[in-house]
Amino acid sequence: MKGNSSKNIKAAITAVGGFVPNDFISNQDLEKVLDTTDEWITTRTGIKKRRILKGQGKGTSYLAIKAAEDVITKRNIDPDTIDLVIVATITPDYKGAATAPSVASAIKANNAYAFDLSAACSGFLYGMSTATSYIESGRYKKVLLIGADKMSSVVDYTRRETSILFGDGAGAVLVEPSKNEFGWEDEYLRSDGIGAEWLMVKGGGSMYPMTQEALDSGWHYITQDGKTVFKAAVSEMASATEEIVNRNNLNPEDIKFLMPHQANKRIIDAAAEKINLDKNKVLMNISEYGNTTAATIPLLMFDYESKLSKGDKLILTAFGAGLTWGAAYLTWAYD
Ligand code: COA
Repeated sequence: MKGNSSKNIKAAITAVGGFVPNDFISNQDLEKVLDTTDEWITTRTGIKKRRILKGQGKGTSYLAIKAAEDVITKRNIDPDTIDLVIVATITPDYKGAATAPSVASAIKANNAYAFDLSAACSGFLYGMSTATSYIESGRYKKVLLIGADKMSSVVDYTRRETSILFGDGAGAVLVEPSKNEFGWEDEYLRSDGIGAEWLMVKGGGSMYPMTQEALDSGWHYITQDGKTVFKAAVSEMASATEEIVNRNNLNPEDIKFLMPHQANKRIIDAAAEKINLDKNKVLMNISEYGNTTAATIPLLMFDYESKLSKGDKLILTAFGAGLTWGAAYLTWAYD
């Protein structure tokens, strides 16, 4: 529903949902087929399992719809009242047709329009910036933001450098005008195209369309310069987190939780250290899911929702392909 523009509207997350498939690949499974060990993967990344969506004809929309339906049920809303559906993803169902319209139709959000947002692992953070702006402007009243990726569709399971890292999943939030003083407080978002080639799926885009030659070269798989990405992620996630904490005059004691993108436990530890945050204030589920790209932060909210209370000060931070990165400060709006 359209509303009148007002400078005093604050945007807040009012419900969270999530979905991960039951099937998974464990470190022990990978040990059997690759030159790697559970010990190496655990100490270098913190990952134990990654969830995998199996079944032909099931794409990212399958995950996104499940997470969205969870939000609709929990918040008990009529899907017809949703104004906008955003799906943050880098693994859309198809090239050319966005995934969000399929999701909106499946959940019967008949009055919504829908689009995809591509910012890789920063997709949820960028999506929150977009969703909150629509709410704050007064233009819309209910925005459903879903971070969803079927990373197994772009992973080469013969490569130990990438197959250990990624998993499938979706997390969703409803963003509405806040009914109290809590909600989206501040954001610091950045990008730098210089690192595009450090982490990407080379083939199938307009630069290198999917020819037989591209396929034979494995360009339909995700590749990365792991060490370079690691260093950039540590540096940028840590400094974005520091920036958002400092400019909002937050002390480590004020912060209830840091909710960081789940790419590598060592990257997360470095970001937390930069703001002197106690380890028990850093939320993680990377061991169970691996890196689910745009889904990691909303899946953290989903998994830890029972530990969140009205007024809790939370810091979000992410880093991803593109390059894209940033941090945000929000106060949780409900018990
Ligand atoms: N099992 C065992 N050994 C492995 C391995 C695996 N799965 N993957 C790499 N290695 C080996 C390398 O071949 C290398 O061997 P060498 O010294 O004989 O050449 C050695 O381990 C060290 O490799 P390196 O790439 O330097 O390891 P690393 O400590 O940087 O860890 C990553 C590798 C991928 C875990 C790490 O770089 C990383 O997490 N990068 C960021 C990835 C990421 O987050 N991407 C998404 C961003 S949102």
